[in-house]
Amino acid sequence: MQRLDGDGAVRVFDVNIKANPPFYVMEYLKLGDFRKFLAKRTTTTASALDMFLSVCECVAKCHAANITHRDLKPENILFRGVDDPILSDFGICKIDDLPLGTTVFEMRRRGTPLYMAPEQLKDNLVQSKPADVFALGTILQADIGDRIRDAALKDQIADISHKCREFVPERRAKIEDLKHSVQRIRGDVQQRLDKRPGLHRLGMMVNALRQRVGKIDHSLLMEEAEETL
Ligand SMILES: Nc1ncnc2c1ncn2[C@@H]1O[C@H](COP(=O)(O)OP(=O)(O)O)[C@@H](O)[C@H]1O
Ligand SMILES: [Mg+2]
Repeated sequence: MQRLDGDGAVRVFDVNIKANPPFYVMEYLKLGDFRKFLAKRTTTTASALDMFLSVCECVAKCHAANITHRDLKPENILFRGVDDPILSDFGICKIDDLPLGTTVFEMRRRGTPLYMAPEQLKDNLVQSKPADVFALGTILQADIGDRIRDAALKDQIADISHKCREFVPERRAKIEDLKHSVQRIRGDVQQRLDKRPGLHRLGMMVNALRQRVGKIDHSLLMEEAEETL
């Protein structure tokens, strides 16, 4: 983590592995996690995709430092500023390309079902960056795509996610490809917004009304709110 020096990841100020118990001191991030951000009433498809792209940036920075996080999920993404997500919980990360199964701790804690790549279940396999792409694909699908109402957009997201979640790690999309694909659909969403500038405010109103009448709705605040009127 010192390799990253807080760039895209939680900043660590002090480490003592000889203490009992060993400890490290990190920055305090009080703005909640990515799950909480996605649950906010004001989170739109556009802002969710923007934030997801920033998360991809953080993961790319880790990978550039040869660190694989291996436990990416909304709870392990915290915020330094409202628009500034960073990665935390590097408890089972891997430095460089190393096989799994070297410590007792690793054997016990391997990741989080749903987000973890299939190779994370196996011992003595080299585990590297594609495992994080798998988890990003799950976040994109399960935490964002599944909550989008627009069928065409949903399909596009499912398609991108599928390419990130291939069983064989080498077949998975590269993080740059993932970013480009998401940027493309983010551009489509923007085009729609630009065509109908009032749409965003309309969506806000629809969501506020839904909450007023007690209609629990876990959909993201959508630009295509007119369909739900
Ligand atoms: N630096 C931090 N600042 C504020 N809250 C934190 C910080 N690190 C972790 N947390 C909170 O504690 C929870 C658990 O921490 P985490 O490091 O993810 O451990 P684990 O998931 O292994 O129990 C996080 O989901 C987050 O809500
Ligand atoms: Mg955690």
